[in-house]
Amino acid sequence: MPTPLVLDCDPGHDDAIAILLAVADPAVDLRAVTTVAGNQTVEKCTLNARRVLSLAGAPSIPVARGAAQPLVRRLRIADDVHGQTGLDGPRFTDDPSVPQSPYSAHELLTDVLRTGPATIVATGALTNVARLLSEEPGLAPNITEIVWMGGSTGRGNIAPLAEANSAVDPEAADLVVRSGVPFTMCGLNVTHQALVTDEVLARLDRIGTPLARVCVEWMTFFASTYRELFGFVAPPLHDPVAVARVIDPAIVRCVEANLVVETQGEWTAGATVVDLDHYTGRPPNARIAVELDRAAFWDRIVDAITTLG
Ligand code: BDR
Ligand code: CA
Repeated sequence: MPTPLVLDCDPGHDDAIAILLAVADPAVDLRAVTTVAGNQTVEKCTLNARRVLSLAGAPSIPVARGAAQPLVRRLRIADDVHGQTGLDGPRFTDDPSVPQSPYSAHELLTDVLRTGPATIVATGALTNVARLLSEEPGLAPNITEIVWMGGSTGRGNIAPLAEANSAVDPEAADLVVRSGVPFTMCGLNVTHQALVTDEVLARLDRIGTPLARVCVEWMTFFASTYRELFGFVAPPLHDPVAVARVIDPAIVRCVEANLVVETQGEWTAGATVVDLDHYTGRPPNARIAVELDRAAFWDRIVDAITTLG
């Protein structure tokens, strides 16, 4: 049986590929896509999610708009990485055919979880998930697991010690980690193993479909900003790593460790403090992704995009 899944995201180039993977891979059953402000405003991220599902030919998956702002802080967008649209690269003049749900992300998440257990993959700030847990605590037992692309066991990418999804809403990440719902963190330490090399780009290009061509254009834009901003030779495709962990846990090896999110530090808000070496004596409360099976990961991505035609 495929794993029921909700994808909470802020597309975003890597979120876009995460959506395609979740739509196409037979190991998961994507029930809903919800959006959150992060890479861009929530309006732009929602339009992009609709665009990706339209390109994927998946009109029956509802897309609902979520939080426009973090729980307590002011939104900091990543237009330097993802551009003015949040998904720069190919230009689209038409409106996506997939509509926005009349329900809010909160209502849609609640609705899905009332019908039965589901896994939440979150590839943006955890604002929507934190709200869900604080306003609907009775639904927590129906969340099989929260798998988050965010955080890092080491250094950050938006501040010396904070990764972007964590730094955008540290209070939300803190609340979710403390909630007691099974939690897996796929941080930069593992997503930096998912580099879109020239070889990967060539594989995508060889698929030859209109969707694959759009993906190549997205990745080419993403590569250009990662090169300019961070000096990366190839950009890391962060978000699909979290989806891949649900598709096949063997693709993303995890260890159990204690995780806390820094919310108070003057210079470190959003830092994910992972006690891999058991310094603190605090018990493990999270699974921490440490190693990616690159070959299996890229095979799943290429298969997904090929399947969608
Ligand atoms: C994360 O931040 C966003 O820019 C990406 O979509 C990814 O979710 C990486 O730090
Ligand atoms: Ca993202």
